Amino acid sequence: MIFNKDYFEKVFDKESPWGYSTSEYEKKKYLRQLEAIVRCCREPKNILEVGCAEGIHTAMIAQAFPGARILCVDIATQAIERAKKTCDCFKNVELMEGDIIELFSRGKLPSHKFDVIVQSECLYYLFPTLLFRMDLVSYLRGMARTLTDEGIFVTSNGINAVTRNVMGIYYLILKRYCAPVFSAQYREWNEYRNKHVTYDLRVFRKVNRRERIQEPELAAQAP
Ligand SMILES: C[S@@+](CC[C@H](N)C(=O)[O-])C[C@H]1O[C@@H](n2cnc3c(N)ncnc32)[C@H](O)[C@@H]1O
Repeated sequence: MIFNKDYFEKVFDKESPWGYSTSEYEKKKYLRQLEAIVRCCREPKNILEVGCAEGIHTAMIAQAFPGARILCVDIATQAIERAKKTCDCFKNVELMEGDIIELFSRGKLPSHKFDVIVQSECLYYLFPTLLFRMDLVSYLRGMARTLTDEGIFVTSNGINAVTRNVMGIYYLILKRYCAPVFSAQYREWNEYRNKHVTYDLRVFRKVNRRERIQEPELAAQAP
């Protein structure tokens, strides 16, 4: 199944799919991602949120980092329209409708780089499209190029029998461009799905090419 714009427009025919606005499960997950940003990148100036949906997480990011400019992208028109309302009072939030795969590959994002990229519960949806187009590596390379030196990529993803493998592939490829700096897994009650759900939270820091080349030399010098 391909999770394209039509798919998500149908999902957003329903107000607040997945119960973002009221869910304690989601709120806790958003807070954990915020804590991870604070821990790994104290004063981000530019943040990119990929797959912002109705802007609930966005509003929390905007509040936590009033000095940062936050650009949010979502493929669904209805999601962006609602996110505009949710984030109306935050002057540091800019919302953009678009497919992140196209935006990365065609260089259609602003020319400046981002200290933080957040992609929460979204990466696994891109997998079938990227696999079909044989674009997995270029997507992650494009994402890493969009980060500042030392910039971080924060991602949280529900883990089940399918996504465990999918995320494993992403994380393996990501190691070409970024170093893993934080990894945790949580299992919590999800009121919307009426069952316990497991998700992970990962933070990767961009490493530049020279550092990657030097890595084996440094290891060789170790006693
Ligand atoms: C499950 S929701 C997650 C929303 C929010 N990030 C969160 O953690 O609660 C996935 C979101 O990703 C968006 N999305 C999926 N594929 C996308 C793509 N190719 N480009 C941009 N947004 C996409 C969907 O429209 C949807 O709003």
